[in-house]
Amino acid sequence: MNIPDISFQDYLEAKTEVDELALNFEVRRRLLSDIGKLAVSNRGPLRVLDLGTGTGAMVRRLVRDLGAVRSAGTALEICGIDLDSKLIETAGRLCSTDAFDEVRDDMDSGNVAVEFRVMSVEKALSEANSRELITAHALMDILPMAATCAAICRSLVPGALFYATINYNGLTRWYPQAQDAEFEGQLLAYYDRSMRRVRGDGSEQDGAASGGRLYEACSAAGLEVLAVGGSDWCVVPQVNFGGGSLRGGNSGAGSTPAYTAAEVRFLGWMLRTMYQEGRKEFASGPMDAWMSDRLHCLQQAKLALVVHNLDVLARRRPN
Ligand SMILES: C[S@@+](CC[C@H](N)C(=O)[O-])C[C@H]1O[C@@H](n2cnc3c(N)ncnc32)[C@H](O)[C@@H]1O
Repeated sequence: MNIPDISFQDYLEAKTEVDELALNFEVRRRLLSDIGKLAVSNRGPLRVLDLGTGTGAMVRRLVRDLGAVRSAGTALEICGIDLDSKLIETAGRLCSTDAFDEVRDDMDSGNVAVEFRVMSVEKALSEANSRELITAHALMDILPMAATCAAICRSLVPGALFYATINYNGLTRWYPQAQDAEFEGQLLAYYDRSMRRVRGDGSEQDGAASGGRLYEACSAAGLEVLAVGGSDWCVVPQVNFGGGSLRGGNSGAGSTPAYTAAEVRFLGWMLRTMYQEGRKEFASGPMDAWMSDRLHCLQQAKLALVVHNLDVLARRRPN
């Protein structure tokens, strides 16, 4: 049995393609509409902070999506921060490619300045009233929820926005049914439980329940929730009739179902993560049998994955 060997960095880049299809359209539409209004009322540049930026996927997305704000003459100052220096280095490199420069320089007004810094979330949120937009993508499940929401609220200027996306909300399912469906049920339940951790300082990370908890924690911290919507990952092999797949990407032409290259890496990472976590609780016999079964499905392009996430848009109450 070959356990897929995928680096965290490669997983994050593969995840970008899956996230792109998952992000909730209505929550994103509300963000773009409200940030446009904020840009009009705010005289200076829009100061944006992306927490736990990884390889900078959300920063690249913002530069692309905030084109209308820039066209209206508002400058953007975007800072992506992460504890991992290698990821920060990659984020900087991916943001300075020719293709990206073209998007960045496409509009004739409103400069965009992007920087990436090695920094903790806690430090990045230490300056009060300093941001018009804070984003957290696939991050809130690993942070102490209440304390982080309170710090985010303080860092935002009154009326400013918090956009938290891909917050896991406690449901993962593999298809088709596993050979040992009862065992997979136990594994999935353990996988969710394993994400909940109590940190050294006594604070908890909410893990599998983070999507719903975030909704509650925003209100408790003084953030008004403006929009909430599902952003489920749905990765299924798709038939490409030669005219291009619905998802774009490079899945093979023809009537045989296939994944894009990014989806293969994404599924491989998810199987590997679940296998490694499961080995902490279950004996190697049933774990190996489960993994072989699921890898076989992947090789046959029959494996599908659904993971339930929530996107949340909130704002600090205006004065
Ligand atoms: C699941 S990854 C998400 C990365 C990126 N937002 C994305 O979705 O592509 C979480 C990221 O948060 C970073 N991280 C975790 N705890 C952090 C902290 N306290 N301060 C700064 N970064 C942190 C990790 O290094 C990792 O890159």
